[in-house]
Amino acid sequence: MNPFTTRYNPGHFCDREKEIKQLRANIDNGLNTLLHSPRRLGKTALIRHLFHKLEKSRKHETIFVDLFATSGMEDLITILSEKILERYHRKNFFDGIKNVLKGVSTSITIDETGKPELKLQLGESNKKTTLEQLLKYLEARKKQVVVAFDEFQEVVKYPEKAEAILRTAIQPLSRVLFIFSGSSSHLLREMFFSAKRPFYQSAAVMVLDKISPDKYFDFIGSTFKEYSKDAEPEAIGRIMDFTEGYTYYTQFISNLAFYQTEKKLTTDIVTQVISDYLESNKTDYQNLLNLLSENQKRISISVAKEGIVAKPMAIEFITKHKLPSISSVSQAIKTLTNKEILYRANEGYTVYDVFFKRFLQRYY
Ligand SMILES: Nc1ncnc2c1ncn2[C@@H]1O[C@H](COP(=O)(O)OP(=O)(O)OP(=O)(O)O)[C@@H](O)[C@H]1O
Ligand SMILES: [Mg+2]
Repeated sequence: MNPFTTRYNPGHFCDREKEIKQLRANIDNGLNTLLHSPRRLGKTALIRHLFHKLEKSRKHETIFVDLFATSGMEDLITILSEKILERYHRKNFFDGIKNVLKGVSTSITIDETGKPELKLQLGESNKKTTLEQLLKYLEARKKQVVVAFDEFQEVVKYPEKAEAILRTAIQPLSRVLFIFSGSSSHLLREMFFSAKRPFYQSAAVMVLDKISPDKYFDFIGSTFKEYSKDAEPEAIGRIMDFTEGYTYYTQFISNLAFYQTEKKLTTDIVTQVISDYLESNKTDYQNLLNLLSENQKRISISVAKEGIVAKPMAIEFITKHKLPSISSVSQAIKTLTNKEILYRANEGYTVYDVFFKRFLQRYY
């Protein structure tokens, strides 16, 4: 078993103690939380970890709803129903449906793995009432329920007035608490920070940062030790330099490095692992790059080479990288940010995907 998984693993989870404490405090204080960060820093895993602890403490019950790839209220309500049925009616799904979805017309298909799949027939008018019914069910549980909506920015794209419907359904609840989570896109920010929107100021905000480098460093070392392997500090340092300490990339490279290590992780092994990874994924990154216009390509490469660019419209950057006019750079930066090729951090623009950045730095 490789301990550096890219799935949540309660046995090998690095730090986040401060964040868990804060989330727990919000729950104790009856506050909903908005949890956001750039991609792949560990929001989903953090919620899973919190839920693991809450369930273990037997004081709370938890429902995790992933809204990734949902396209309307019907999807949201279906997933929420499924999660409630899984949590409370695992033994008798059909009884559960009668209990949880009273009056809703449902059908069930069995998928290839033998798992029942729920389908709800919801008309426009009973979406709202079904949602309220589900939340009332949770509200009536003896233990307090915490619900997480992950990738919550998806609801902005729904054809219904989803924000208003959800806000109206959530507002009267006195016990059920929510964690809304997603990447720090303008969609999510506007939802919670624009005074015109239903979710304005409705949650305590928590911005997830990188795991502290010291703690991550120790975590990697002690995990190797746990499996009777050594890791040279310089080797761990090289992993962290390459990944800039971003969680997903660090887990990923550590996973490969662990696999390649018989007794001792050395810088040579790390260098080799990184080279092999970039080499074998070259074509995919090349294809990604080829989807961009000539202008966007050049700007992405230039930003990658710089690492971070505070002022991409400044004349120094434009002349240094022989880019076209300010207006075309400005347009391309906007498009690249929307496509999430570039990310606008506080200090400036950077290539969003660390591995893509390393690919651009190495081959261009
Ligand atoms: N504290 C941690 N210790 C060990 N591994 C972690 C930790 N946090 C996250 N991970 C791992 O890092 C990877 C990225 O984490 P996760 O998917 O939670 O990020 P995310 O912020 O939800 O990303 P996205 O914005 O793309 O949804 C996952 O493989 C996860 O298992
Ligand atoms: Mg996530």
